[in-house]
Amino acid sequence: MHVERSEKMFFIASAALLVVFALAVGISGFVYGIQVPQPVGLVDPKTVATPGADGYHFGDPVEERIRELAPGRYEVYILAQMWKFSPGSIGYGEDPITVPVGSTVTFYLTSKDVQHGFKLQGTNISMMVLPGQVSKLTATFDEPGEYDFVCHEYCGAAHQTMYGRLIVEP
Ligand code: CUA
Repeated sequence: MHVERSEKMFFIASAALLVVFALAVGISGFVYGIQVPQPVGLVDPKTVATPGADGYHFGDPVEERIRELAPGRYEVYILAQMWKFSPGSIGYGEDPITVPVGSTVTFYLTSKDVQHGFKLQGTNISMMVLPGQVSKLTATFDEPGEYDFVCHEYCGAAHQTMYGRLIVEP
């Protein structure tokens, strides 16, 4: 079979691009630690705020959604709903989430109603929050300060009021 020279060049260029893309994914994952949000499990959105439901910690009261596993090691279970995150929704009178500097925090999120988003400023945490599904990402906070998080998926009339705060204390 005869293959035109120009066609061969396209084959080679396409193969080279695949290698470049694979390298970009590999380097961002293994060198820069960029994580893809992992769906870790399923919950029932109707009962997720019941203590102990589905083996997670999205239950009331809200304070119990912040769990210190060991010194400097935390898990935070944030329940999203129109139009707040709990815990941390300072705009709705909730206390900010507070951890000491140097902490590693794993965030678990799910939604009680519609699709929301979760972006934590100053970190690489950005994920979709879906009813029925638990999403999980981890960050380490080496700088004290205020880290705001916002909903970045349009979720209804008061979407712009859906934000909260994490304080990293010195
Ligand atoms: Cu929740 Cu926008």
